Amino acid sequence: MGQAAWEAGQGAEASEDRGAEQEGKPMRVLVACERSGVVREAFRRRGHDAWSCDLVPADDGSHFHILGDAEVAVWSQWWDMLVAFPPCTCLASSGARWMVEKRFDGRQKDALGFIWSLMSAPVDKIAVENPIGIISSQIRKPDQIIQPWMFGHGETKATCLWLKNLPCLVPTDIVGGREQRVWKMAPSPERARLRSQTYQGIAEAMADQWGAR
Ligand SMILES: C[S@@+](CC[C@H](N)C(=O)[O-])C[C@H]1O[C@@H](n2cnc3c(N)ncnc32)[C@H](O)[C@@H]1O
Repeated sequence: MGQAAWEAGQGAEASEDRGAEQEGKPMRVLVACERSGVVREAFRRRGHDAWSCDLVPADDGSHFHILGDAEVAVWSQWWDMLVAFPPCTCLASSGARWMVEKRFDGRQKDALGFIWSLMSAPVDKIAVENPIGIISSQIRKPDQIIQPWMFGHGETKATCLWLKNLPCLVPTDIVGGREQRVWKMAPSPERARLRSQTYQGIAEAMADQWGAR
């Protein structure tokens, strides 16, 4: 964790004025498992004290990034909102071919434990994002399934949201075009990163609708 991040967390821990219960106050938002900074910056542009957290450095070099384990960040500091994009490699239906192997070598159990820890974190407002997969049967069904084409991107990528104290997202810009562009990307070292990057339209909807002040 960077020095700035640590100090921000310590400040929040020490503050008597915990939480942004009062309408209109900026919130402390942790965007867990985010390297792109797309959601972090959408919240910051609206005046919130938003931080991304990932095991790898932020793609945009931002100082508002906690380099480390999201589970530690979420449980060790005070946050008003958690928006999490945990890895789906052991959980998504698209990886069903490997499901049996992952189930028996413990990776699936670990991945579910990580999701459970994020969902049950001591944070007032929580959103956890993941593709369709085994979270629905092993933990609970999602509150909402969204598509990029509901938020201005003419592509399909069914994305589940598990929500606590947050409303379902209202589509902001329903567009035509139902391409599966992300799946057709040519293999490259950047493919996995680009495929998992949050769509700008979805990030803006999250910040507008969940971060309204
Ligand atoms: C599916 S990708 C989400 C990417 C995100 N939508 C974005 O725009 O950057 C999952 C991310 O979780 C990160 N990650 C995996 N385990 C983590 C952990 N324990 N703590 C924090 N980040 C983690 C990975 O490095 C990866 O960047």
